[in-house]
Amino acid sequence: MKIFDLKKELNAFTSEERKKDRTIGLVPTMGALHAGHISLVKKALSENDLVVVSIFVNPTQFDKKDDLEKYPRTFEKDVELLKQTSDNIVVFAPTVDEIYEGNLKSESYEFDGLDKVMEGEFRTGHFDGVGTIVELLLRTVAPDKAYFGEKDFQQLQIIRKMAEVKNLPYAIIGCPIEREPHGLAMSSRNERLSKNTREKAGFIHNTLQAAKAEFGTKSAINIKDSVKSEFEQHPLFDLEYFEIADENTLTPALKIQDNQKYRAFIAVYADGVRLIDNLRLN
Ligand code: PAJ
Repeated sequence: MKIFDLKKELNAFTSEERKKDRTIGLVPTMGALHAGHISLVKKALSENDLVVVSIFVNPTQFDKKDDLEKYPRTFEKDVELLKQTSDNIVVFAPTVDEIYEGNLKSESYEFDGLDKVMEGEFRTGHFDGVGTIVELLLRTVAPDKAYFGEKDFQQLQIIRKMAEVKNLPYAIIGCPIEREPHGLAMSSRNERLSKNTREKAGFIHNTLQAAKAEFGTKSAINIKDSVKSEFEQHPLFDLEYFEIADENTLTPALKIQDNQKYRAFIAVYADGVRLIDNLRLN
């Protein structure tokens, strides 16, 4: 499998592929790959001749130095997993300097308020960092389509907005959440949970499903209150936020409108690890 760390070399390779009329999909990741990432790669393989998987832990999207330092890095294992997945994958793993060209800072984006709620409220500057790196990767690879998981649904909507505002001609494709058998959304961060916490972490998804069951009969405020009290009673999980929001605008639902789509969004701390999840409600 080809592994590129230089843009120039990746571009030389992809332009040869384009001459052969091969389509290119891009799956941006921060590595520590798991079945959730692989589901995006498989979707990309099914729709393109060649898939570029980028592996880059992006410093500008971390608001806490500690979180950046503790982010798992398992490059050799990632490459093995991709090799087993398909021959039509190439890896792009640039250094910070290669991708940022010595200008390690975020651009300020206008995301129409999508970045002001939930993750944006609790992680200052996070989405400007995500926007910056995803724009750089999209412009570097110039894929036909780029794939992102609904696991980070707010991120997905923000990337769609960024592509629209910047007039980027690359299709942004959303992919469903892959879960562990008991419901915990797969995440590189799950590795940092103790065995006991990880076994019990299906609780987070169960709460989202309970919210879904109540949606339509109870008000959003009542549902939020019952989620809060369930977490208050749980010794392992600390709730950071639970929100019911419109899928497109991400604004909290005060009054449920029949013609809108809603999702429940949650962020939880367990063993000092921050976990997020979401579930479509209607
Ligand atoms: P990372 O957390 O590595 O995730 C890479 C992609 O995999 C994202 O689009 C994410 O939503 C998707 N993903 C992660 N877990 C998933 C799961 N359980 N099911 C489905 N998809 C899942 O998200 C990032 O990296 C970064 O912010 C990035 C977009 C690469 C920019 O740095």
